Amino acid sequence: MADPSAATAGATAGHHAPAEGVTKRDFLELIAGAGAAIGAAAIGWALVDSMNPSKDVLAVSAVEVDLAPITEGMGITVMWQGKPIFVRHRTPEEIKSAEDAKQAELIEPATDDSRIKAGHKPWIVLIGICTHLGCIPLGNKPTDPRGDWGGWFCPCHGSQYDTSGRVRHGPAPLNLPLPPYAFETDTKIKLG
Ligand code: FES
Repeated sequence: MADPSAATAGATAGHHAPAEGVTKRDFLELIAGAGAAIGAAAIGWALVDSMNPSKDVLAVSAVEVDLAPITEGMGITVMWQGKPIFVRHRTPEEIKSAEDAKQAELIEPATDDSRIKAGHKPWIVLIGICTHLGCIPLGNKPTDPRGDWGGWFCPCHGSQYDTSGRVRHGPAPLNLPLPPYAFETDTKIKLG
């Protein structure tokens, strides 16, 4: 007579073998699922994190610029929030030509007064990014080409800006933008 415990053991073994297979497959699926969930969570965090300013961006959200070393006729470029900012000390002739511009002749009309800070006519502060396709125009150094209006010249496609940073010759469609800034003293500005 067959040993009933052996039959039971065999039945049990026969019953358990597929169950173990299922369990293993489930376990692998669980691991894969958990990996995907962790991946999704990591991407989600990266997306959310990228929407917040990074520490270095926050660190340079405000930049002070000492104007004392910038002599008349000279300009400098400082970086603020990843953008080149032109700070130029205009000569009396450059101020006059900016003020004398006829509004009707401008591509994007704007008075010179509206583009500077009251009481600080010599200083023009601009975001130095061409409004055509984003090149950085030339003109800060006295030896740079400055175009027919004496301001800035974009070598990429020939746009020209006057000494107020207004576009005078395309293809750029708009004036150079103005960054937020304030005079802290007569010789120091704070960007941002
Ligand atoms: S990017 Fe300046 S003219 Fe095209």
